[in-house]
Amino acid sequence: MTSSQPDLIRSAFGRFATGVTVVTTVGTNDRKVGMTASSFNSVSLDPPMVLWSAGTQASEYEVFANCDKFAVHVLSEKQTDLSNRFATPDIDKFEGVDWQLSSNNLPVLSDCPLCLQCETVASHQASDHKIIIGLVIDVDFGSEEPPLLYYGSAYHKLGDSI
Ligand SMILES: Cc1cc2nc3c(=O)[nH]c(=O)nc-3n(C[C@H](O)[C@H](O)[C@H](O)COP(=O)(O)O)c2cc1C
Repeated sequence: MTSSQPDLIRSAFGRFATGVTVVTTVGTNDRKVGMTASSFNSVSLDPPMVLWSAGTQASEYEVFANCDKFAVHVLSEKQTDLSNRFATPDIDKFEGVDWQLSSNNLPVLSDCPLCLQCETVASHQASDHKIIIGLVIDVDFGSEEPPLLYYGSAYHKLGDSI
């Protein structure tokens, strides 16, 4: 079913609303890389662990699949451009983007609601994705803007609480 009905599966998975993150790390010679990912989730509070998955379609898949550290940036509703930029192939994703190198040697983007710097503690290959699990080593709260949401293959803003 999964291979013959990709549209159905896409619609099904699209019913699950997520936030949007940009994950960054460094490759060889400290080359900074980043990609948009909505597969982020928290795993445990103690120890503080998170996960996300990188697909082999990503040009920097090998870098992420083998990195020992990464930074997850939770995006705000004002950062759709940043999300699109880090999901656009064949461009310098950091051009025109404010960032700085952290003490963990990770590229940290400015003005995001949250940045979690993580050490990779485990990973698991699952078909054409690698699930990457990280231990949070630094938490930085940034902008107070509401989060950017992703639902049904489109961006959304947070609604009222119920
Ligand atoms: C909202 C959104 C969420 C995405 N989530 C993921 C994800 O969780 N994992 C993934 O591998 N790709 C995800 N992508 C796709 C990658 O961002 C994209 O394939 C890639 O980074 C494009 O640039 P590249 O070809 O230079 O890698 C997402 C794209 C968007 C727009």
